[in-house]
Amino acid sequence: MMQTRRAIVLAAGKGTRMKTELPKCAFPILKKPMIEYIVENIEKSILDETVMVIGHKREVFETLLKDRVQYVYQEEQLGTGHATLMAADLLEGKSGSTIILLGDMPLIDNRVINKIMNAHENSNNDLTVVTTHFDNPKGYGRIIRNQYDRITAIIEDLDCTKEQKQIKEVNSGIYVVNNKLLFEVLPKIEKSRRKSEYYLTDIVSLLQENHHVGTFVMRDAYRVMGVNDLYAISVAERYMRDEINRQHMLNGVSIINPDTVTIGHNVNIDSNVTIQPNTTITGESKIMEGSIIGPNSEIHNSIIYRDVQVKHSLVFDSTVKARSTIGPFAHLRSNAVVGPDNRIGNFVEVKNSTTGDQTKASHLAYIGDTTTGSNVNFGCGSVTVNYDGKEKHKTVIGNDVFVGCNTNLIAPITIGDRVFIAAGSTVTKDVPTGALAIARNQQINKEDYSKHLIKPKNHTK
Ligand code: UD1
Ligand code: MG
Repeated sequence: MMQTRRAIVLAAGKGTRMKTELPKCAFPILKKPMIEYIVENIEKSILDETVMVIGHKREVFETLLKDRVQYVYQEEQLGTGHATLMAADLLEGKSGSTIILLGDMPLIDNRVINKIMNAHENSNNDLTVVTTHFDNPKGYGRIIRNQYDRITAIIEDLDCTKEQKQIKEVNSGIYVVNNKLLFEVLPKIEKSRRKSEYYLTDIVSLLQENHHVGTFVMRDAYRVMGVNDLYAISVAERYMRDEINRQHMLNGVSIINPDTVTIGHNVNIDSNVTIQPNTTITGESKIMEGSIIGPNSEIHNSIIYRDVQVKHSLVFDSTVKARSTIGPFAHLRSNAVVGPDNRIGNFVEVKNSTTGDQTKASHLAYIGDTTTGSNVNFGCGSVTVNYDGKEKHKTVIGNDVFVGCNTNLIAPITIGDRVFIAAGSTVTKDVPTGALAIARNQQINKEDYSKHLIKPKNHTK
């Protein structure tokens, strides 16, 4: 029988150096909480189960991850050694190997986890410490080796002598350890004098004399970078962004000025799509072949069909069907389903609405809580008035309708097919199929009236 492979993820800390309200491990990178990357990669790896240690604002993690992991609680944050010990209730005495991961290493990847696990299993190590080299190792624990090159201790940055600070080999914070042995050694860790914390790193010096302690040296150092402050968040985000953009470009997506383009993890983009500068595409989004997105656009949780153009615009939780153009300066706010061959143009907002084929709102319009048919033209300044101060109401518009400029359609209201609404109307009643609706005061011209109003100027020529 295969031995059980487990993960313990430490995520109970405050993340004091972040200076943010949100606990560090839940902080988003590319709009997705850091901890989700770690859990996703564990799920994709060869590991069988995950125990997560949470404490500070633990409900944030429980809400995010639900039952994807088992939780144990660390009430007081007394250090990484103490945090790991909290898993004893669930794991003490069990056989198998346990990989310990930190909740602040968002760039860890399932292939790396597998490699580390396999390397541990193929060695006869009781403990494998994953190390790497950083040119600037500040903040990381340093790896101490003896004259035979064997690891003998990890010393935290704060506790290092001047000489030890020169060491560039650092502790990644990942360890694979024989599970039974782990829970035997954890209670032996003593409080560090300087920080009054129980350092997990002390398992190295405690085990090295009587057990096999080895290292796995990572070549891609960035994969195990620890994120401790908001600057590090930006560095991690840059790595992620570069890697995602590169993959899309190799798949046939043309990205212009990729340093300014941010694409989230779960975004799906067909080949022959062009992404223009200053564009962000995140969430569960899909962009289909032939579409051109950007410049200066933001798309989140949205589906863009083939040959669509989105320029200088925002598209959130919405769908745009084939060949439509969005923008410049349009806002599909939420649950907008724009039909094929539509034009949603300058300063037009669409929310919770659907449109049929070939419908156009080219300038200055608000379309909310509306079902619109095909070949409808919203003139400049038309508004579906959906809110009466208390409740939202629906507008239904048929096919082949012309909504004149500066028109208010006061919902709830139904406009039939082939209706023509005169410019400047405020329409409060339903309009039947085929009708012309005019709802405005008639113009009166009073001849020669100016003499009552305007004192003529003395025009000198
Ligand atoms: C830790 C390591 C350091 C290593 C670095 C790699 C220790 C003592 N130091 O330092 O050797 O080079 O990671 O990034 O282990 N946590 C808890 N409970 C606690 C304290 C922390 O769950 O009481 C969690 C945090 O939420 C975090 C993780 O453990 O996800 C690491 O804690 P952090 O404070 O970031 O440790 P570092 O100083 O980065
Ligand atoms: Mg850290």
